[in-house]
Amino acid sequence: MIRIFESGDELSAAIADEMLLHLRKDPRPVFCLASGSTPQASYAKFAALAKEEPRLSQLRIVSLDEWVGIERTSEGSCYGMLDADLFSRLPIDPGAIAFFDGTSADLQRECERIDSCIAHGPITFSLMGIGMNGHIGLNEPGLPVLDRSSVVRLSSTTREVAQKYFDHPTELDFGITLGLGQIAASKRVVVAAVGRKKASIVRTILTRPEADLPAQKLLGHSHIDFYLDAEAASELEANVTE
Ligand code: PGA
Repeated sequence: MIRIFESGDELSAAIADEMLLHLRKDPRPVFCLASGSTPQASYAKFAALAKEEPRLSQLRIVSLDEWVGIERTSEGSCYGMLDADLFSRLPIDPGAIAFFDGTSADLQRECERIDSCIAHGPITFSLMGIGMNGHIGLNEPGLPVLDRSSVVRLSSTTREVAQKYFDHPTELDFGITLGLGQIAASKRVVVAAVGRKKASIVRTILTRPEADLPAQKLLGHSHIDFYLDAEAASELEANVTE
């Protein structure tokens, strides 16, 4: 289903509510959460709602992706962004967070380590953003749907767009990411896009199936919804979402 919200604020509030619902209802809540600009407001709202929630002690977090070669202490690392936007605001046990180490000398083992975290129990709630090139996590266009984590070469779009996360020019060549198949296997997935700059890629995703973009592979599943604010949906004809 595609849901269009009047504002980014409304979209973020709906996502925060849903995160709280899943935290409370899933016996073993496992969240896989995107970093980046899109979910920031949702995390602020969720943190405010969930600050005193006893179920937080049950929550486990599984890493979605990370830049290869970037220390987690870097403010632009995926961990660094999630830490600033969410982890630091809530009493989450660091031991309950399984995150890719993009500086590991053995990235294959990192993939296996994160894969093993979801081998015995599914991700119960995933929140994904949409890249300017239609990627999900760091599943770049052209990559097959994988049921395991992998190290991927970043597209030029991703390398350029990601500079916004860093305060100095940063060389990014590879990423490490959960596979699209693993994300799709979550019990519930919300894919979000906000802002005018996402309008064009959102239109491509929803109207040009031949583009064969990663985000398109998440369309048409009953447990996966696309949440758009009015700006991200501004290039869509009304009938696309009917
Ligand atoms: P953004 O990134 O939320 O910062 O726009 C989304 C993505 O690249 O997946």
